Amino acid sequence: MNIILMGLPGAGKGTQAERIVQEFHIPHISTGDMFRAAVKNETPLGLEAKSYMDKGLLVPDEVTIGIVKERLAQDDCKKGFLLDGFPRTVPQAEALTETLKELGRGIDHVIHIDVERGSLIERLTGRWICPVCGASYHTLFNPPKTAGVCDKDGGVLYQRDDDKPEVVTQRLDVNIAQAQPLIDYYSKQGLLRTINGEQDIQVVFAEIASLLRG
Ligand code: AP5
Ligand code: MG
Ligand code: ZN
Repeated sequence: MNIILMGLPGAGKGTQAERIVQEFHIPHISTGDMFRAAVKNETPLGLEAKSYMDKGLLVPDEVTIGIVKERLAQDDCKKGFLLDGFPRTVPQAEALTETLKELGRGIDHVIHIDVERGSLIERLTGRWICPVCGASYHTLFNPPKTAGVCDKDGGVLYQRDDDKPEVVTQRLDVNIAQAQPLIDYYSKQGLLRTINGEQDIQVVFAEIASLLRG
């Protein structure tokens, strides 16, 4: 199963991706996670990506497309994949369509998690992440059993640099500007399925899972 998970910053892509890949046994490809790993390892890609991410801007298309192409060519993607946060612009979507065509494959589902801007700000500013497994928590909506510590592995939770209030506003504006053309791109192909992301995490997952099971 080849899946795209779309949604504005804070919509719950990572939260749902974690559950989807567990249920459907496919690799989770998050461009945001890939960039953060590169930043942490101080690679040239990381240095370049950081200058955009810290400002809440998108990393240039050619860079982003390049890393996704490389990732999709790896063996574990043959059984399917879940793209989280890619594509985010129409040129990225077109490049993805082209790449998959070359590999003799296509997209099966595009899931759009729809959430209002006001909820997104609240979610992002209350988010805490595990450095070990990447799980997202929220102080109000999805608190860990013990404050500040991951339920699964005891990792000490941290806040992302780009979740500072001033960067959050910019990230939302930048992503909102790109969202509609992308929604139109996949609607026209009859692939887009919109889920109400304002619901409980478990309810959102149940709707996504039932859609994927067809
Ligand atoms: P990325 O890491 O993808 O960030 P993002 O798109 O801003 O999205 P987030 O990861 O912040 O949100 P999410 O939807 O995963 O929400 P989450 O599940 O954590 O990208 C980071 C940066 O990398 C970009 O800004 C850009 O610079 C660059 N980049 C990445 N991809 C790119 C691309 N394709 N092109 C160019 N540049 C790119 O949930 C958020 C919070 O809400 C959590 O606390 C969670 O517990 C809570 N929550 C989740 N679901 C619910 C719910 N249903 N109800 C209540 N709370 C909930
Ligand atoms: Mg995420
Ligand atoms: Zn963890």
